[in-house]
Amino acid sequence: MKLSPRLKKIVSLLELPTSIVDIGTDHAYIPIHLAKNTNCSKIIASDCNRAPYQAALEHVRQADVEDKVDVRLGCGLSVLSKSEVQTAIIAGMGGQTIRQIIGDDYDLAQGLDRIVLQPMAGAGSLRKWLVNNNFKIINEALVADNDKFYQIIVVTPGSMKLEDSFLLEIGPQLIEKGDPLLSTYLDNLEEKWQKIIKDIAVELPDHPKVINLKSKIDKMQEVKKCLSSYTK
Ligand SMILES: C[S@@+](CC[C@H](N)C(=O)[O-])C[C@H]1O[C@@H](n2cnc3c(N)ncnc32)[C@H](O)[C@@H]1O
Repeated sequence: MKLSPRLKKIVSLLELPTSIVDIGTDHAYIPIHLAKNTNCSKIIASDCNRAPYQAALEHVRQADVEDKVDVRLGCGLSVLSKSEVQTAIIAGMGGQTIRQIIGDDYDLAQGLDRIVLQPMAGAGSLRKWLVNNNFKIINEALVADNDKFYQIIVVTPGSMKLEDSFLLEIGPQLIEKGDPLLSTYLDNLEEKWQKIIKDIAVELPDHPKVINLKSKIDKMQEVKKCLSSYTK
């Protein structure tokens, strides 16, 4: 079994070995990979829906790692007892679902050492929520897979100075570290925003959305300048 670039990148952001739960595991590819290739002391794969839970059970059985991966049926972090694992992965879901999973079992989430999040959408509002709810962003990465960009956000409990909301939309650690894909990602985003501006501004040049996107594009130019100064 070969991990996709997205799943491989998630694994690269874990601090291994660790005790870990993969929430919303579906196929259980990451837990199986960890069972076969690392010394993780505990590996839990969980899903709240019966079909993916059955798929995870079956894949774990086929990979012959039943003794290493504990597959559980249940919602979010509620499958865990207090301090059962150090790390959680919550990947391949919308930002709003991720927020809900963390918010529903907030005390358990605050008891984890690190949470590796990979939202399929809404990364900006997820970051804002995390920072407003005592989570600190300690690492981030972009990964390109199947012609799409995916964001990965690693958080730990703790306070973080509330950053500029534009930086939270883009990813403060992506900028600080000068992620190698950030420049291309920003170019794509700008192209998307310019298209929206063009579509709306034909009839409504002063529409608040047009003004907001133009201001965000100005801020983006500043970020791009910083990135180009890293590479000089
Ligand atoms: C698109 S799959 C992602 C699978 C895998 N994590 C990945 O990134 O490739 C999303 C999975 O999350 C599960 N899921 C959605 N909400 C959940 C929740 N609150 N608790 C546990 N699992 C959830 C779904 O049943 C589904 O199997």
